[in-house]
Amino acid sequence: AVTRTPLIAGNWKMNLDHLQAVAFIQKLHWTLRDAKHENGSVEVAVFPPFTDLRTVQTLLDADKIPFALGAQDLSVHDSGAYTGEVSGVFLAKLRCRYVIIGHSERREYHAESDDVVAAKVRAALRHELVPVICVGETAEDLEAHGASAVPVAQLKTALDGLPAGTEIVVAYEPVWAIGSGQAATPEQAQDVCAKLRAVVADALGADAAAATRILYGGSVKAANIAGFMREPDVDGALVGGASLLVDEFAAIVRYQK
Ligand code: G3P
Repeated sequence: AVTRTPLIAGNWKMNLDHLQAVAFIQKLHWTLRDAKHENGSVEVAVFPPFTDLRTVQTLLDADKIPFALGAQDLSVHDSGAYTGEVSGVFLAKLRCRYVIIGHSERREYHAESDDVVAAKVRAALRHELVPVICVGETAEDLEAHGASAVPVAQLKTALDGLPAGTEIVVAYEPVWAIGSGQAATPEQAQDVCAKLRAVVADALGADAAAATRILYGGSVKAANIAGFMREPDVDGALVGGASLLVDEFAAIVRYQK
């Protein structure tokens, strides 16, 4: 059976400037190191704002800090007259491994459609960045269609036409659970994540589906992470607010099964 390395990812959103990022990463590293990282097999990733990436990359390299680096978005284009955009070429040069695509805040405040999300997934893959594809239903979607219909449709569009075996990460983030303090239950998360894994199997093949990490996101904290991690189809978490608190995020990384 394939074993998937759990991924605990911190989406900082628009928080922490590059100087605050240095202090934060150093503290987090020391906190996890002192605790001997009981779950040593967990992959930790941080997703700072664009303006922090260079500084954080330098620090991770210099101190050999074993966190993966990711960006929160990228352009569909690789270069050219696109004022304000950031290319996957640049992210790859900074040794970003991941890039978040289609976060509900991008979908809502920047009108990112499923087609834009699909184009960004392709842009990431052109530069060997692993897309962390975010999907999730709003409270209205939940009411009208149940939990899984919208995230399943979003993921199908994002994966349509990709080659079998493509490496991706999926993040199931119910919009009603983001920043609300009202997380989904582990059972709700499991139900949708299992359906999302079936979508990955259809699009990318059974092996890719078995290898793909599917994360839950939405009001994850130290007190509820273990419940999610016990579910067979939940392979980690995409953490927002709690990823900005060193001790809380470290406790999430050190969840006990
Ligand atoms: O991308 C993670 C995020 O949307 C969840 O945010 O603050 O509910 O953990 P939060």
